[in-house]
Amino acid sequence: MTISRPAPLYNNKIHFFENYARGPRMLTNAERASINKLKKEIARLDPTGLLLVKNIFPNFKASMPFGIASGAAYGGRFLGMYKELGYGFLTQKTVRDREWEANPMPHSFYLSKGSFGKGFVTSSKPTEMMANSFGMHCLGPKVWEPELAAFKGENRSVPLIISGVITQARSHDEIIGQYVEIGKKAEKIGADAYEINISCPNEMAGNSKDIQDDAAFTGEILEELTRKLGIPILVKIGHRENLETFALVVAPLLSGRGGIVAINSKPAAVRNRNGSYAFGSSRPKAGISYKPLKPYAKDALKQLLKVRKETGYNFKIFSVGGVVTPGDVLERLRMGADAVESAAAAVSRPTFALEVKKRLLQSISKE
Ligand SMILES: Cc1cc2nc3c(=O)[nH]c(=O)nc-3n(C[C@H](O)[C@H](O)[C@H](O)COP(=O)(O)O)c2cc1C
Repeated sequence: MTISRPAPLYNNKIHFFENYARGPRMLTNAERASINKLKKEIARLDPTGLLLVKNIFPNFKASMPFGIASGAAYGGRFLGMYKELGYGFLTQKTVRDREWEANPMPHSFYLSKGSFGKGFVTSSKPTEMMANSFGMHCLGPKVWEPELAAFKGENRSVPLIISGVITQARSHDEIIGQYVEIGKKAEKIGADAYEINISCPNEMAGNSKDIQDDAAFTGEILEELTRKLGIPILVKIGHRENLETFALVVAPLLSGRGGIVAINSKPAAVRNRNGSYAFGSSRPKAGISYKPLKPYAKDALKQLLKVRKETGYNFKIFSVGGVVTPGDVLERLRMGADAVESAAAAVSRPTFALEVKKRLLQSISKE
């Protein structure tokens, strides 16, 4: 049986900057009808609209503990759309302290089959597996600073996380300096939290990719950020078999004022059906998201929960990766995540946040 899937909200046939310029596609009449139906069902289950509200941090009041991960939204129009679609909080796709062209097209594919060991094969149609290799484009702070400040000014009620990454820094001081500079801009904009991306699988060595594997240095970055910023700080990490060593170093620094966002996409080879590398021979690997990431995201959550329980440090855990169904969100929250995020499902299904909201409300009414 073939399942008909909606066209994604991000158009992977055109360049990242063109997507930004055009904004998300219009919703179809059928999608609008489904959204209206879900909104009515939700209003019946929760007439006050308050049942799922969660203060993840003081002044970070999410309408539900499920939001947009860094990647699905770049700029006010995409952020505004996800707010309208019902997400409880929003993360701006990672920004830099400068303009950055990043990787050439293609940037993103859905996948038909594969595994992390053998690699994945692209699909011409939307599926529940996705590969990305953007390299984090950026229009520069001259564009994102005023745009995000305007967005936040007009949308005070929805928490906004700004994610930042460093660019070609040559020393530890420069790395710390860039993370601090972007963080200060995030705070000035009115962001409700600042996320440092230290785990992008598509970055060239020497940029952000390897920072996570140096826990002591990550600790130094966090010490400086906590000294200089007044907003919560989040650290975005990738999956590792052993996250404990890392978590033990950062936990005291984040306790009471930040958290860990886990996990980023995980690299694997991606090929076309004819066996050639889909992103070109110079980029055999790309970051894999969506369904294949589920066991890794759950494992990361378990490892982080264990550290939190054993140390008593009060850092928040945002679980992201492999969220495919509303039941996945419920499962992560029941496991102990403070919040859950989605990138690939959010891009792929306009009704997803409302489906999740309905499922969470139904679970409360059964308890
Ligand atoms: C289209 C796309 C773009 C992404 N861009 C970023 C990014 O700029 N920064 C980042 O930290 N993660 C980025 N990610 C990774 C996601 O935030 C998330 O960690 C990963 O996709 C796993 O979640 P998912 O399975 O719900 O997609 C991106 C993911 C997707 C699908």
